Amino acid sequence: MGGGPLRVLIPPDELAAGVGRVAAEISATADDGVVLIGLLKGSIPFLADMVRQLTVSPLVDFMALSSYAPDTGRVRIVKDIELDIHDRDVIVVEDIVDTGLTLTWLRRELAGRRPRSIRTCALLDKVARRIVPTPIEYRGFEIGDEFVIGYGLDFAQRYRDLDRVLAADLKVLKADPDAYVPELYARSR
Ligand code: IMP
Ligand code: MG
Repeated sequence: MGGGPLRVLIPPDELAAGVGRVAAEISATADDGVVLIGLLKGSIPFLADMVRQLTVSPLVDFMALSSYAPDTGRVRIVKDIELDIHDRDVIVVEDIVDTGLTLTWLRRELAGRRPRSIRTCALLDKVARRIVPTPIEYRGFEIGDEFVIGYGLDFAQRYRDLDRVLAADLKVLKADPDAYVPELYARSR
């Protein structure tokens, strides 16, 4: 089964430039000891590339969240951070902000732990889909209302490894999650 339209939205060189810009912004506005909380699993490539360009010393931790039901905003912590964030500056690192429900919930949850500050860093901002406004202090790219895969973003755990962000057809993926594998993964890649 072949894939429908698939097109590169952000190629590797543009991603690298955006990630470098975000790292420079964080370096200019955060202090040593800032806690970066990467949200598993989508933030992994972004976080890995970004932290290697920081000129401040971060503490890195991870959290995994899951939604009870799509679009309800009810979130559950699957894996919590290990660090105590009391009196620390915190930056949540996300792959993409879509409805904003996840981050709204998470920022409130983290605020209860009395950090000194909370900021959000997102590689992608799908601003047209926002249901609840949520601040994004560091943003890589604003994108349109399209389903995207690659550079951490998945469909059914596929495609996170790709070095670029692609817009995909959600109907095609729902019919077959592996629909784009043949054109993306020539064995000679
Ligand atoms: P929201 O902002 O609460 O709607 O949730 C954002 C989360 O939904 C992200 O962290 C992603 O895991 C997922 N998500 C939203 N849009 C996309 C997309 O286009 N591709 C892959 N995952 C997405
Ligand atoms: Mg996510």
